[in-house]
Amino acid sequence: TFFIEKDSFWSGKKVLITAGPTQEQLDPVRYFTNYSSGKMGYSIAETAVEKGADVTLVSGPTSLEPPIGVKLIKVHSAWEMLQATTEAFKTAEVTIKSAAVADYTPSITYAQKHKKKDDQWVVELEPTIDILKTLGSMKTDNQLLIGFAAESENIEHYAKAKLVKKNLDLIVANDISAEGAGFDGDTNIISIYDRLDGEQSYPLASKKQMAQHILTAIKDFAKEPHN
Ligand code: CTP
Ligand code: CA
Repeated sequence: TFFIEKDSFWSGKKVLITAGPTQEQLDPVRYFTNYSSGKMGYSIAETAVEKGADVTLVSGPTSLEPPIGVKLIKVHSAWEMLQATTEAFKTAEVTIKSAAVADYTPSITYAQKHKKKDDQWVVELEPTIDILKTLGSMKTDNQLLIGFAAESENIEHYAKAKLVKKNLDLIVANDISAEGAGFDGDTNIISIYDRLDGEQSYPLASKKQMAQHILTAIKDFAKEPHN
C-alpha cells in the first residue's frame, strides 16, 4: 500500500494532457520528428493522477511507460493528435498541451519506399494545423487551457505573444538554450505567464518538480477572481 496525497482542487478534475513528439510520415520507412522525450507531459500526468485527477494522456511516440491510472491515447502524426485532442477537449476541465507538435508535415506521403538515386531529393512540407490555437478557439468559460512555448531567444516576448494569439489561460515558457534545460533532458528552466499578467520564474529543477510547480500555478490561477 502507498499513501496518495489528494488535493481538493484536482480531485476528480477531468484533465487532458498531451505529450511527446509527433511523427510525420514521408514513406513507409521514413518520418520527420523532433527531440521531445515526452518526459515533461508524462511527469505532469503522473503528478495530476497522484493529486486525484481523472487524466487523459494523448501521447506521440515515446519510450516511456504510461503512468498508472491515466487513460492513454497513442497517436503518431499532428493530424491524429488534433483528432484525439479536440475530441477529448469537449469534456476536459483543464487541458495542458506539452506535446511538441510538428509545425510542418510532408505534402505527400508516398505509399512506396523512395528508392535511392544519384540526384537530389527535394521534399515539400506544408504547415500542420495549430492544435492549441484550435482548442483556444473552442474554449468555454469553465475550461482552463495551458500551453507551452519552447524558445531559444526573446522568451518572455514570444511566450506572451503565444498566450494571447492562442487564447490561453497560462503558458509555460521553456528556455531551450539554457544549460540543463530543454527538450529531451531531465531538467527544465521555466517561467509561467498567465492572461492576467501574473508571472513566475523557477530555477533549474527536475521535471517532477516542474510538474508540481505547473499544477500549483494552474490551481492558484483558478482560485484568483477573474473578470
Ligand atoms: N502546438 C500545437 N499545434 C501545433 C504546433 C504547436 O498545439 N501544430 C502547441 C504546442 O503543443 C505548444 C504550443 O503550441 O503547447 C507552442 O509550441 P511552440 O512550438 O513553442 O510554438 P509555435 O506556435 O509552434 O511557434 P514556433 O514553433 O514558431 O515558435
Ligand atoms: Ca512549433
